[in-house]
Amino acid sequence: MTQQVLTEIQDGVIIIRLNRADKKNALTGEMYNGISDALDQLERDNSLRVGLITGTPDCFTAGNDLVDFMKGGSITGNSPVGRFLATIPVLTKPLVAAVNGPAVGVGTTMLLHCDLVYAAPGAKFQMPFINLGLCPEAGSSLLLPQLVGYRRATELLMLCDAFTADEAKDMGIVNAVLPADQYQQHALDQAKRLARQPPSSIRAAKKLMRRASQEALKSVMAEEARLFTEMLDGGEAKEAFAAFFEKRKPDFSKF
Ligand code: COA
Repeated sequence: MTQQVLTEIQDGVIIIRLNRADKKNALTGEMYNGISDALDQLERDNSLRVGLITGTPDCFTAGNDLVDFMKGGSITGNSPVGRFLATIPVLTKPLVAAVNGPAVGVGTTMLLHCDLVYAAPGAKFQMPFINLGLCPEAGSSLLLPQLVGYRRATELLMLCDAFTADEAKDMGIVNAVLPADQYQQHALDQAKRLARQPPSSIRAAKKLMRRASQEALKSVMAEEARLFTEMLDGGEAKEAFAAFFEKRKPDFSKF
């Protein structure tokens, strides 16, 4: 079977590549665990200084696998999603992302935990949790309003408006938009620059810059995970998932 997450090490950077192109890199339990394993390796190994997460050249990720969500499941505790969501906000070393094509759901919200984000013009972001009868996750209910303001966040989280790479740059969600044949190399070059900086200073800077939101983030993420897991089992989500696979519009009128 093809490995759904590939890792490679270059000059102190661990590159984490999502590799399930036929399903738009939709994240399975195996993939969440693969990413978490790589992030754990980054934290443990002194010779590793920076993580870089990317997808296939024209797709970052379509978010959580909806077949898995249809089976119910959980994003709390020891589930693979829960493990990933517990790992990414407390990383002490920098994480860089390189994004092209769809970055849906957690494909966008994980970027709020990254330290540098580079995108190609074809990147398309969306957080469709409410469209799916769910609620915001991965700390996005706190981090997004902080970053873009409450009213903009309402458009993105409640109306689930999709947005382009340029719009993401304007909102501060990505650092820069680069041509499709350059965005991955640029992200890697920037990751390698970070990897050459003094590591204790980098870790101190990250800790200090994230400190103000860290405590609040913990309790917000616990509440998000509780509600989200409850809603996964609800009628609105079941209708939304069925509609996706039946390629029709969901009907929420009966709820
Ligand atoms: N979970 C499971 N399968 C998914 C998926 C997901 N999140 N996203 C895409 N796929 C599958 C499709 O079912 C399709 O499978 P098939 O070829 O067996 O029919 C394949 O990946 C290609 O997807 P498709 O929708 O045909 O590609 P597209 O280029 O037209 O659209 C997206 C790409 C990402 C815009 C669209 O697939 C999409 O909206 N996906 C769902 C995103 C989502 O709601 N994620 C959950 C967030 S919480």
